[in-house]
Amino acid sequence: MLTKGPRGTNDFLPNEIEKWQFVEEIIRDLCTQYGYREIRTPIFEHTELFLRGVGDTTDIVEKEMYTFEDRGERSLTLRPEGTAPTVRAFLQHKLYADAQPIKLYYIGPMFRYDRPQAGRYRQFHQFGIELFGTNHPSSDAEVISVAMEFYQRLGLKGLEVKLNSVGCPQCRQDHKAQLQEYLQVKMSELCSNCQGRFDRNPMRILDCKSENCSELVADAPTTTRCLCSQCSSHFEDVKKYLDLLEISYTVDEKLVRGLDYYTNTAFEIVYQGIGAQSSIGGGGRYNGLVEQMGGNPVPAIGFGLGLERLLLSLEHQNIEIPTKVTCEAYIVTLGEKAEATGVKILNDMRKQGIRGDKDYTGKSFKGQLKLADKKGAKYAIIIGDNELEKGKVTIKNMGTGDQDNIKIDNLISFLIQAREEE
Ligand code: HAM
Repeated sequence: MLTKGPRGTNDFLPNEIEKWQFVEEIIRDLCTQYGYREIRTPIFEHTELFLRGVGDTTDIVEKEMYTFEDRGERSLTLRPEGTAPTVRAFLQHKLYADAQPIKLYYIGPMFRYDRPQAGRYRQFHQFGIELFGTNHPSSDAEVISVAMEFYQRLGLKGLEVKLNSVGCPQCRQDHKAQLQEYLQVKMSELCSNCQGRFDRNPMRILDCKSENCSELVADAPTTTRCLCSQCSSHFEDVKKYLDLLEISYTVDEKLVRGLDYYTNTAFEIVYQGIGAQSSIGGGGRYNGLVEQMGGNPVPAIGFGLGLERLLLSLEHQNIEIPTKVTCEAYIVTLGEKAEATGVKILNDMRKQGIRGDKDYTGKSFKGQLKLADKKGAKYAIIIGDNELEKGKVTIKNMGTGDQDNIKIDNLISFLIQAREEE
């Protein structure tokens, strides 16, 4: 128990972390380029936020939240997603008072109590963006293009964008009524989950994973067929902008997504190579959420991309993430005086931005060199008492084995030059 983390959680050890850092660097560059600025919200929020924001008929709220009472008897919940917290912060800090649109991004852990399996965890990480203040269809296309550009920069191929429009509240109401009428006679054949969804959220029956339910809804009225003229023309325009940006997509009229706040555009990005949990990202428009949470109406759209699923996909396509040289120069000392000089040289090197290290456990000369090799050091700086008298050290290229004497005064400039020539 004490040596095993909770089910559905992962430790990311140093070898793995470099991949995460690389992905995060790409995210930051990309978002800065597209004009999105980072926001960090707390990992827990008032439970009420998700009940109201995500919707109390969703799987997330019904069975997946980590909810607890704190010592002050407040009900708090580990965030299962990033949109509701971002909207809360948008309202709390009056971000709507700034020039619109407001473009935000986040990277961080989310928590959902679900049955863990490959690609599905109880703590997982999302990269998300949220764009507030416009309903223009070109902004829908921009959001989808940020996601696709992200995957492209990582070299990921074979992705499919599934696109739909779930319409405005009026379209949804019409759709709900039509769907209930259609399903009424098939009610007894639906799975027990879907029977429960019939009254409150029949749209979710459309994307039930059970084969039997999928067959039963094969000809059911879809959201797209119930769109009013305004929503229909918005959807057509989004498609035109996606075409303009050369982003391919498949219209999936049964795509409804598992969160209640969506209006109009809904999309999912799917990669089939990683098993059952193939949705590597998803998002959509949520034009009613800001108002629903107490603000004036502000249209908005965003996405959340699963980072564990992304890394699984990269692995599946054998895409190597470049790792940095972690150690440029490893100090190896022979003798007591050399040891003190080594500590000083290492300190000077680090102050000049060189990634350096040394042994502190009293290893033999051979042992120190072995460790330098294990750390992947580019150079070993060998310091012996004799050479020190002449103000020199030996520098050994760990890749080629070549070694040379060098004046201590010239050491740092040599290492800096070696880095620039790389
Ligand atoms: P979501 O579809 O619930 O949307 O989650 C987005 C992505 O998070 C999924 O496509 C998947 O890659 C990843 N994900 C979800 N659950 C898990 C899990 N248990 N384990 C691993 N990865 C998971 C949202 O969360 C919305 N907030 C997205 C959004 C932002 N819509 C508008 N703005």
